[in-house]
Amino acid sequence: MAPVELAKGVYWVGAVDWDIRDFHGYETRRGTTYNAYLILDDKTVLVDTVKFPFKETFAENITEVIDLGKLDYIVVNHVEMDHSSSLSYILQHARNATVVSSKRGKEGLGKYYTTTDWDFQVVKTGDELNLGARTLTFVEAPMLHWPDSMFSYLKEDRVLMPNDAFGQHLATSQRFDDQVDQSLLMDEAAKYFANILMPFSPLVTRKVEEVTKLGIKPQTIAPSHGVVWRSNPEKIVKAYLEWSEGKTQSKVVIVYDSMWGSTQKMAEAICSAVGSKGVEVHLFNMRKSDYSEVLKQILDSKAVIVGSSTLNSSMLPSISAFLTYAVGLRPKGKTWACFGSYGWGGGAVKAMTEQLKTARFEVLEPGIQVQFAPSREELRACKEFGEKIADAVLASTSS
Ligand code: FEO
Repeated sequence: MAPVELAKGVYWVGAVDWDIRDFHGYETRRGTTYNAYLILDDKTVLVDTVKFPFKETFAENITEVIDLGKLDYIVVNHVEMDHSSSLSYILQHARNATVVSSKRGKEGLGKYYTTTDWDFQVVKTGDELNLGARTLTFVEAPMLHWPDSMFSYLKEDRVLMPNDAFGQHLATSQRFDDQVDQSLLMDEAAKYFANILMPFSPLVTRKVEEVTKLGIKPQTIAPSHGVVWRSNPEKIVKAYLEWSEGKTQSKVVIVYDSMWGSTQKMAEAICSAVGSKGVEVHLFNMRKSDYSEVLKQILDSKAVIVGSSTLNSSMLPSISAFLTYAVGLRPKGKTWACFGSYGWGGGAVKAMTEQLKTARFEVLEPGIQVQFAPSREELRACKEFGEKIADAVLASTSS
């Protein structure tokens, strides 16, 4: 895609990745973009680069606006390779450019690349780079979501470039929030938060407060993935604050895997019971569903119900993998519950419950389990189990 001017002399010069469907395990069904921004002033600055396969397109984009040899600075807001892996290539042509990064950014770049010949300028929170008529201010944002992460803010134009924060994995020919479907945009923003930033939720809240105290009031938020928030940047900041606080809806997510259909029958009975109470419910068979989509639904749910058949005295591998992923993302404010089936010794419900309790999640006990196949009475018990959870969700929503 050609460069797009988002403020006078400030250009998007990134790359659109229409093809990617797996971003280190995150299902990117709508592709993504790698955003980089070019600022023209007395000094010329490139903020971030793009993933290596797009390096030539990226260089052409920059060259449409200015010769690479005229770049004075390249800011590295984040070392992860989707943003830094074409930096060496760009530096081969931008021979006068100084690399600007946080201290940890410099260390990280030195681990991934041969940086001995690079000129570095290390910056910290509050440092400014005078570009001529304008000023670039830096705010370190460690663990949002890597130790090196940093925000750059173009003060006079009020353009915040927070790298991964406020991003979305969304490939589109449009560059701005007001040009795309709003529900699709917020859906992808929520999925991104749930799968990338949710474990760092307390830091998100504190960083928003810190940025506000520093007098940063962006009128444009230009993240490193997806579209630029120009029409209503407060919308995504408000959503981030709510997600990081663990704000929930009257919503239940049921996740299961089933060996011979018994656990599936239990899952469907529980799902039907939850839905009959007027509570939004989502049912995922983990043999056929993607973790990242499930976690997006869990983000604002009040209860998560996990089911598995017993295999070798424990849960099925798909559920074990799901729990490992979900526990790592540390979703806040949920009640968890377990159900499942077994042939002789049992073990799935116990193993799932123990894993959740070890992670200090709130677990509703006892879970529910049946031997071999659920009888009519046992399916009725599953419905009562679902109704009880739905009632608790409704009670906590109204309180
Ligand atoms: Fe988009 Fe953490 O990289």
